[in-house]
Amino acid sequence: MSQPENDLPGIVLPADLAVTLERASLRLGRFAGRVRYLAETGSTNDVASRLAAAGAPEGTTVVAAAQTAGRGRIGRTWFSPPGAGLYFSFVLRPGAAAGRGQSVKAVHLMTLAIGVALAEALRLATGLSVNLKWPNDLLVGRRKLGGILAEAVDIQSASGYVVVGCGLNLRTAVYPPDVAARATSIEAELGRSVERGVVLAESLAAIEGRVADLEAERFGVILSRWLELSPSATGTRVRWVTADGERTGTTAGVDGDGALLLRTDRGVERVLAGDILWI
Ligand code: BTN
Repeated sequence: MSQPENDLPGIVLPADLAVTLERASLRLGRFAGRVRYLAETGSTNDVASRLAAAGAPEGTTVVAAAQTAGRGRIGRTWFSPPGAGLYFSFVLRPGAAAGRGQSVKAVHLMTLAIGVALAEALRLATGLSVNLKWPNDLLVGRRKLGGILAEAVDIQSASGYVVVGCGLNLRTAVYPPDVAARATSIEAELGRSVERGVVLAESLAAIEGRVADLEAERFGVILSRWLELSPSATGTRVRWVTADGERTGTTAGVDGDGALLLRTDRGVERVLAGDILWI
């Protein structure tokens, strides 16, 4: 395992994670030997971001058994009680290749690419029919199994980085009421237990493959696979909120920047951020 770039307590991996990551190490690429573990932290995105700012290499990954300040998209809280989920964040450095204004595209395509990787990894590791909902949800049916939070820092410069955080519900916890109605977990869906190490190793191996696709600019491959895994991205009636108020439309796929396309009475509109609600 590589040495820490700065002080990070608790980097010794628990045996179950060490064994499965070692077994998968030839498939882990940039993640091999770069996974660190914390029993509890505020947010793994924040820890990974601090490590990246201190120069940590691509693939540096922080896994926590619990988060006390887990964050979701749009300022939401990500409920992260001990042992109920897999909470991990990793560092990528798309680098100077991304020019001015490219950070939004980098983050969006990254989110879609990592969504594809996680859906494929979970399908492989568990057999569950995991699907995706724009931009960052992993679902089984219409219930949320996990989410992705990609945060870009100074992406226009060579030292810039993106931290991608992934939260996967392993087993059902006593969720807050607003979450409980629309959440599920791998174990609830399967009716049996799963090894978190297998889920983590398969996720990182799949992420390695899809990040390689991004690096090789195989954007079409990622977008078409994302569309296959995202049935609600085409032909689904939805509503969303804009500065002008609530709008309704029908999903019509995504464009090359990862924006959601919506057919409305004004024509086809692009949505880059926000919440899309099924009607
Ligand atoms: C979402 O669905 O809104 C995104 C949820 C992302 C949660 C993960 S858990 C690991 C990482 N650390 C965080 O604070 N958030 C992400």
